[in-house]
Amino acid sequence: MPLPASRVFDTPEILVRTLADTLLMQASASIAQHGRFHLVLAGGTTPRALYEALANRDAGSDKWHIWYGDERCLPSGHPERNNVMAETAWLAESRIPPEQRRPIPAELGAEAAAAEYAARLADVPAFDLVLLGLGEDGHTASLFPGRAWTGADALAVHDAPKPPPDRVSLSADRLSNSQAVWFVVTGTDKREALRRWGEGTPLPAAAVRGRLATLVWMDRAAANQG
Ligand code: 6PG
Repeated sequence: MPLPASRVFDTPEILVRTLADTLLMQASASIAQHGRFHLVLAGGTTPRALYEALANRDAGSDKWHIWYGDERCLPSGHPERNNVMAETAWLAESRIPPEQRRPIPAELGAEAAAAEYAARLADVPAFDLVLLGLGEDGHTASLFPGRAWTGADALAVHDAPKPPPDRVSLSADRLSNSQAVWFVVTGTDKREALRRWGEGTPLPAAAVRGRLATLVWMDRAAANQG
């Protein structure tokens, strides 16, 4: 599928400010509609600035529920874990109750963690918003080209081309079970992946579509607009 709707910003800083403000509006709308905001966080390095911006806006309340699109199989508290990045940049100081911040228990190993997280997700309705990054090869979460993208809600991943090799990822189907899916993509390194996506290459990122909206938030560098 070709590239979904996208918004292009002059700089990552302007993108992050707009994204944080828009996410807060999305949260308010979800809470007004059904009393909760189920948000899935992206890993990697790109979202850190967004999480810091959300912290600066005192984002979060007891109506927010935080999930993760993927996690690296590293010990709890390891600085390279996606949940550690989000907790450090934002969540630990937020008003979101710890019991509503649900990390993937990847320290258990890929299979056990995937089974446990899939069980936790069993009674969760559609997410309200899923945030995702984009890898240079077109991967998203820990769904990599040439590997499984579909199946159970949470998948055990081994031999991932991006270290560490062992990971847990929500499947493309479960990530798509969301009212909205937003990709956050900055920097020239992502140009090729965006170009291939736009040409219709069947990349993992292209397999994830929100029920109502799918949007790619990108800066000019990634959009190859000078
Ligand atoms: C991870 C992420 C991964 C990431 C992309 C982009 O665990 O690494 O889930 O999917 O979002 O690889 O990473 P950057 O934001 O660091 O470019």
